[in-house]
Amino acid sequence: MLNSMIRSAKESLKARQASGGPIVKLAVTALVLPWKTALAVKNIIFNSNYRSIVRLLLFSSRKVHQTSSFTSMDRYPVIFSASRDYFQDKQELNILSYGCSTGEEVLTLRQYFPNARIIGTDINKHSLAQCRRLPVDGRMDFIYSSPDEIRKHGPFDAIFCMAVLQRRPHRVAANKTASLAAIYPFERFEETVAMLDSLMNPNGLLIIHFTQYSLMDTKVASGYDILGDYDQYDYLSPTFDVNSQVIPGRKPLNSIFIKKSP
Ligand SMILES: C[S@@+](CC[C@H](N)C(=O)[O-])C[C@H]1O[C@@H](n2cnc3c(N)ncnc32)[C@H](O)[C@@H]1O
Repeated sequence: MLNSMIRSAKESLKARQASGGPIVKLAVTALVLPWKTALAVKNIIFNSNYRSIVRLLLFSSRKVHQTSSFTSMDRYPVIFSASRDYFQDKQELNILSYGCSTGEEVLTLRQYFPNARIIGTDINKHSLAQCRRLPVDGRMDFIYSSPDEIRKHGPFDAIFCMAVLQRRPHRVAANKTASLAAIYPFERFEETVAMLDSLMNPNGLLIIHFTQYSLMDTKVASGYDILGDYDQYDYLSPTFDVNSQVIPGRKPLNSIFIKKSP
């Protein structure tokens, strides 16, 4: 009830701001700004997840990709099943979940790959603390995401990088953002893809799913074949080119890539 009243008040303020003259716009801004500030302060005090994201934006802004920690069990069954089928004759796998959030992805991967060693990594220490409370076996581990730390556990037969290499996809879609240059330039994506590439075993799978850019646009593209036509079928954000500019229309983005043998 309270939530719907707040929502309709927000919508009516937005409508007035959009339709009104400069004085109305100024008055609405003067009302909205203290409201937003109060909300942020409340979240910083009472919401530990929100606090962890503010900390990331303040102290790790050069390293963090997607800040939201949203995740769930078996979030990508089609991609997970295709990856399991690809490795049907190989049991001893070393797998990385890059951006594992609170660990559901690692628990899910265990169901698809019962004999694998699985490392989950995340840059959000608050999420990692939750991972470390999960009931895991001796062949699963969670580590802080830094290239040096990850390298100690590699190389990997499969790297799952799901819903990590992107920024504010919902807001970008809603605002019809034409360029990601200011918030998430292509170079940030490419640099991380190159780092992940350096951790790959030949014939392994690099899975980059739910992302605003394409691996095939990066400098490591020639080292990969595409597996199947697994597109980001239900990804709602627009996608962007090497200049961080929006690609008009929807360009299908593949998700599963096979690292070629040298
Ligand atoms: C939306 S969640 C995705 C979780 C899970 N992979 C999934 O798809 O359900 C994005 C995660 O990426 C993490 N992340 C952002 N930048 C990272 C980085 N540089 N290294 C590792 N994780 C990162 C965030 O902290 C967050 O937990």
